[in-house]
Amino acid sequence: MKNIVVLISGSGSNLQALINAEAKGQLGGRIALVVSNKKAAYGLVRAAEANIPTLVRTLKEYKDDGKTREDYDRDLAAHIEATQAPDLIVLAGWMHILSPAFIDQFRDKIINLHPALPGELDGAHAIDRAYEEFKAGIRTRTGIMVHHVIPEVDKGDPILTMEIPCVAGDTLETLEERIHTAEHQILPKAVRLVLQHGDNIL
Ligand code: GRF
Repeated sequence: MKNIVVLISGSGSNLQALINAEAKGQLGGRIALVVSNKKAAYGLVRAAEANIPTLVRTLKEYKDDGKTREDYDRDLAAHIEATQAPDLIVLAGWMHILSPAFIDQFRDKIINLHPALPGELDGAHAIDRAYEEFKAGIRTRTGIMVHHVIPEVDKGDPILTMEIPCVAGDTLETLEERIHTAEHQILPKAVRLVLQHGDNIL
């Protein structure tokens, strides 16, 4: 069975989609560990309810100890490798930019979910920015993607992408809801694809 480690920072609705897919035998692996960089992340509750081990590690604890972001990334990578030997690491709403100190440890084994199409709206608040552009009349659709992780934020090769229309009367909330619903479908599919085919799916 392939080992998956999921990194989260918040609500974890995408983690839930992965948990549900695993329960239906549709994930191609098992979620061995959920890591959060926020103590209050609701995704930790979802993991606990599914009997998945969790680890909370905040950057603040490191900074308070006089350590660096690279120390945090290196230690987290070492811990994950030593305890899980993961086949895949999934960033599912993980709001922390990983440095090469982490990424180099897991070359080609890290994927990220981003609520925008490749080459558009990289970085944080992508849905808000898409909505502002829609309201300004310069955007009629946005999208989502799951992509390989490289040090440049949201720039790794796409695995799956999906266009999401912005429709007349949309509020930020209705657009967000449409995006999240699509994310919950695409992320488990991308995990299964990568676990089945590795790098040969493009
Ligand atoms: C998703 O929109 C994801 O694309 C973005 O952060 C959000 C996480 O949502 N990177 P959740 O915590 O999975 O509910």
